[in-house]
Amino acid sequence: MKLNFEKMMYVKVLMMVIAIWFVPMTYSNGAEAPAGDVAEAPGTDTFNNDWYDARATFYGDIHGGDTQMGACGYGDLFKQGYGLATAALSPALFNDGYTCGACYEIMCTRDPQWCLPGSIKITATNLCPANYTKTTDIWCNPPQKHFDLSMPMFLKIAKYKAGVVPVRYRRVPCTKNGGVKFETSGNPYFLMILPYNVGGAGDINAMQIKGSTTGWINMRKNWGQHWTTNIVLTGQGLSFMVRTSDGVVKQFMNVAPNNWGFQQTFDGRINF
Ligand SMILES: *[C@@H]1O[C@H](CO)[C@@H](O)[C@H](O)[C@H]1NC(C)=O
Repeated sequence: MKLNFEKMMYVKVLMMVIAIWFVPMTYSNGAEAPAGDVAEAPGTDTFNNDWYDARATFYGDIHGGDTQMGACGYGDLFKQGYGLATAALSPALFNDGYTCGACYEIMCTRDPQWCLPGSIKITATNLCPANYTKTTDIWCNPPQKHFDLSMPMFLKIAKYKAGVVPVRYRRVPCTKNGGVKFETSGNPYFLMILPYNVGGAGDINAMQIKGSTTGWINMRKNWGQHWTTNIVLTGQGLSFMVRTSDGVVKQFMNVAPNNWGFQQTFDGRINF
C-alpha cells in the first residue's frame, strides 16, 4: 500500500511539473482551445518501467488481416512500419486514443499449461471495444486491461488453443526507423494530421502546427490519432510541435512545402 501511494504521489507531482512547464507553451498562440486536456491514468498508460497485470487474446489471421486501419486511424500498418507487432487495447488502456502509438512489452504468466516463455513488444494501433450486450468473452469491457494481439504476436507467447491468457505488461520505449511521419487529410477548413512512426514514449498528448506565416496553433485530437485545426493553412509550409506522454517536446520544422496537398505523407526527418 505504502509503495503504491508513494508512486501515485510521484506521478502526480511529475504531472504537475509537466503541466506547469507546458501550459505557457500551449497557450502561447490563442487561436484555439488547448490541445492537451490530457486524461492520464497513473498506473495504466503511464510511461514507466512497472509491470501490470492484464489479459490477452488475438484477432485477425496469421498475416495480420483485420488488424489494418482501426480505431487509431492508422492505415496500412506494413507501409507505416508497425507490421504485425500490434495490438488492440481495451478502453481502460486505449484512453480515448491517446495511447495509440505506445509500445508495450508483454509476457504470458501464471498459466503453465498455455504460456510460452519469453516476451513480445507491440505498438498500440487499435481499440478492442467494450460490448455490453455480450455475456461471454467480455474481456475488453471496463475496467479490464486487455490486449487483443495480432495472431502472430499472440502465438509467440501462448498456445493457439489457449484463447485467452493472463499476461504481465509494461510500457517500453518505441524503437522506430526514420523520422516521425505526418499524413494530411480533411479539407482546407478542417485539416487533419495523422502522426505515425513515433519513437520514444510513442503516444502523443499534445500537438501544434505552424504555417510559414503563422505562430504555433494548438491542434485538437479528433478520433484516434487524427489531430485537427480549422485554421486555413493551404499554400503555407507546415511545421509541427509534438509532445509525447513523457513530456518530451520536439519541433519538426518545414516538414511540408507550401504546395502540400491532402492525402499526402511528409517525413519529419527526426524522431523521439
Ligand atoms: C456485441 O455482442 C453481440 C453478441 O455477441 C453481437 O451481436 C454484436 O455485434 C456485438 N456488438 C459489437 C459492436 O461488436
